[in-house]
Amino acid sequence: MVKVLFVCLGNICRSPAAEAVLQKMLEDEGLADEVHVASAGTSGYHDGELPDPRMRQHGSKRNYTLDSISQKFLPKHFEEYDVIITMDHSNYRNVTIQADNDQQKAKVKPLSHYCCEYSITEVPDPYFGGEEGFEYVFDLLEDACTEIVRRIKSKEALY
Ligand code: 4NP
Repeated sequence: MVKVLFVCLGNICRSPAAEAVLQKMLEDEGLADEVHVASAGTSGYHDGELPDPRMRQHGSKRNYTLDSISQKFLPKHFEEYDVIITMDHSNYRNVTIQADNDQQKAKVKPLSHYCCEYSITEVPDPYFGGEEGFEYVFDLLEDACTEIVRRIKSKEALY
């Protein structure tokens, strides 16, 4: 069982969307039983909440169901997951600073690491912007998750 944790700031926009995109792609490939996918936020501001209604709405247009409940990223997650995928530079810093050792730090990868079509370094936070920001997040997530699924199928390392 491969265990993947996506991390953003609030765990109500980008990381629950990433979780839903990867989950759907795995189900479509018949790989859902082999991979556990979850998400968390570094802030904990929205603990217990469903994803942002705008993110859910844009996701449903692409057949993704965003229904995970927001949780804060905790150091115990380094032990529970094989790879921790962050959305922006700030998330990366806020997660890696909590790593106890180099092995834990090495599990943390930016989502941009998996993008093949888009040349980016961050998934921009759509929370304070317009509708197009939410669509762009899904474009980036689909690009990265396609590569993540390819690696899982071909048993290549995720980090
Ligand atoms: P996320 O977006 O990190 O993609 O979930 C945000 C959600 C909430 C806030 C910021 C970013 N906030 O400031 O409440």
